Amino acid sequence: MTSNGVPGRDAAPNRSAGSTGSDLAPEHIARQLKTRWLGRDYRFYSSLDSTNSKLSALATQGFAEGAVLLADEQHRGRGRLGRTWIAATGESLTFSILLKPTCAPAEMAPLALAVAVGVAVGIGEVVDLPLVLKWPNDLLCDGKKLAGILIETSGDGKNLRHLIVGVGINVNQSAFPEELGGQASSLRLATGKNQSRPEILLAVLRGLEKWIDLWRGLGSAPIIDAWLKYAPWVGEEIEVKTSTGIECGVAVGLNPTGALILEDGLGHRREIHSGDVTLIGSV
Ligand code: BTN
Repeated sequence: MTSNGVPGRDAAPNRSAGSTGSDLAPEHIARQLKTRWLGRDYRFYSSLDSTNSKLSALATQGFAEGAVLLADEQHRGRGRLGRTWIAATGESLTFSILLKPTCAPAEMAPLALAVAVGVAVGIGEVVDLPLVLKWPNDLLCDGKKLAGILIETSGDGKNLRHLIVGVGINVNQSAFPEELGGQASSLRLATGKNQSRPEILLAVLRGLEKWIDLWRGLGSAPIIDAWLKYAPWVGEEIEVKTSTGIECGVAVGLNPTGALILEDGLGHRREIHSGDVTLIGSV
């Protein structure tokens, strides 16, 4: 997505009662949050450049694993593959989560799928929509993007210091800029009515905690099984833009590390570890 933002100063975080007027302020979220570790430290900003950037800067200051930082408005949000992410005040959910996994960076790939499943399950608890995951972790409805996830790591190739999981959910937008080419949607557009951002946030945090815990406890197998239930396009022809060009083929599934398996017309299979998928069919 593209940015519409004018850079501005970050508003101070708010953890005190009743002073921001936002339904996402801590006093509204904290007492309804049913998670064990995720979001127990919840920071709210009325405006930020990017929640990922802010949390990354704060991560070294003793924040606990599971800290959540949310901005009501984000004017320089970052997306995958160098894109930007628009989030005007009051319309979306834009937040980042601090994780401190102990595994090697190479074992992290299925976490991206676990996060996608957690977001889909959470949203699906609140709205009844045919949600689809596009590899690795875009959430779509009727072929249009409802939510995106950007995971950023800190550390060297062998040791992870921390990981920032950024989630952007289009909730109550009634229209999107033309430059998005009709490829974005919101829960409001998809359901025909405004949705409660606190309700979605609370459900998504519960979903994320559950699926991140499952990934930690049981590894990639249950995550991949759950992820595939949201991928009706597996078995169909797709296109993937990778760093080396465009690959076409039938999506066969995912390998245990979460890589996408593509099969060409001659039956040759290859694994894609990073790229941008275009679904050619109707999902
Ligand atoms: C994508 O390209 O699909 C990923 C979009 C991720 C956007 C979210 S919004 C909250 C967090 N902060 C950011 O700057 N980006 C992520």
